[in-house]
Order: sequence, then structure tokens, then C-alpha cells
Amino acid sequence: MPQSADSVSIFFVGNETAPSTKLIAKFCVNGSEHELAVRPYDVLLDVLRENLSLTATKRGCDMGTCGCCTVLLDGEARLSCLTLALDAVGKSITTLEGIREGAVLDELQRCWYETGASQCGFCSPGFILSSKALLDRKPEATLDEIKEAISGNICRCTGYAKILEAIQIAQKQKLDRNICK
Ligand code: FES
Ligand code: FES
Repeated sequence: MPQSADSVSIFFVGNETAPSTKLIAKFCVNGSEHELAVRPYDVLLDVLRENLSLTATKRGCDMGTCGCCTVLLDGEARLSCLTLALDAVGKSITTLEGIREGAVLDELQRCWYETGASQCGFCSPGFILSSKALLDRKPEATLDEIKEAISGNICRCTGYAKILEAIQIAQKQKLDRNICK
């Protein structure tokens, strides 16, 4: 019989000769709750991409050095390739798919498109979420603070100038929108 807790229960799959342990855990992703079977060593990146088909979160280096896999956990930027899925239980997980409001893109997404801040686009979700974590926490962040916030994200295509431009334009649009509220 499964052992149940509030958000995690343990059960066994496999057979008597080759049992494997999985945990049933509840994940809150982009505002929706999902009950999923995960292994204790599964990382959040795999759960998002393989279990939930949220493929905007990219696998780059798989070792914490490129930032492609960045997601938000309770609003903080985290590398999903280095985060155990079970560590995300009870937290609000946000991926790139979850930052627009209905059909309206987040300013960062729109400015990325309008300024040409992505070429192949592989790094863009990570950059956008690192930037969003900063601008949500500190709307009037300085250029140096923006550079610091994206310092863990690597782009092989753009040379970074367009990326910084996109973030700064989006920052201004977010500030203007909040003034108008
Ligand atoms: S895939 Fe996670 S930091 Fe590169
Ligand atoms: S746009 Fe290609 S890696 Fe950044």
C-alpha cells in the first residue's frame, strides 16, 4: 500500500525480482497542479520536458554552466538540470510557457522578438527567465544588475548586445505599465 503524505506518497513499481521505487508527488507548474510519479534522483528538467512536455526549458550542458534550463521556483531563477524534482514540491514552478497572460506575451518575450535578441533561440528561455526573476524582484535594476542576473546564461549566437537591449526595453515597458495601473 502506498504511504501518503500531503504532497508526496511512496509506491513501488516493477516486480518482486526487479522493484523500483517511485514517489507520487504534486507539482505546481505554471499555475496548474500535476500529480506525477518520479524517482528520487530525477531532476526537474527531465520532469518538465519528459513528463509534462514543457519543452521550452532547454537541456544545454546538463551540468550547471549554460543557463539554458533556467526556470523560476517561487520567483527565483534556478537551474532545473541541477534541481531535484522533489525539491520543487510545494513550490511554484514557472517555465517560459507560463509567463504570458492569456494571449498576451510578457514584455520580455515581445522585446526579444522585436529586437532580434535571439538567433537560434536555444538560450532565450533561460535568459528571459533570469531577467524576469530580476525585474520582478527589482523593477528598476541597473544595467550592472541586469548583467549580473544573466551572467550564468550563455549565448553562442548574438554577442549579448541585443539581449541587453531587449531586457532594457522590456524593463521600461514594465515600469510604464505599472505607472499606468
Ligand atoms: S542545462 Fe542546466 S545549466 Fe546547462
Ligand atoms: S540565440 Fe543561439 S545560443 Fe543564444
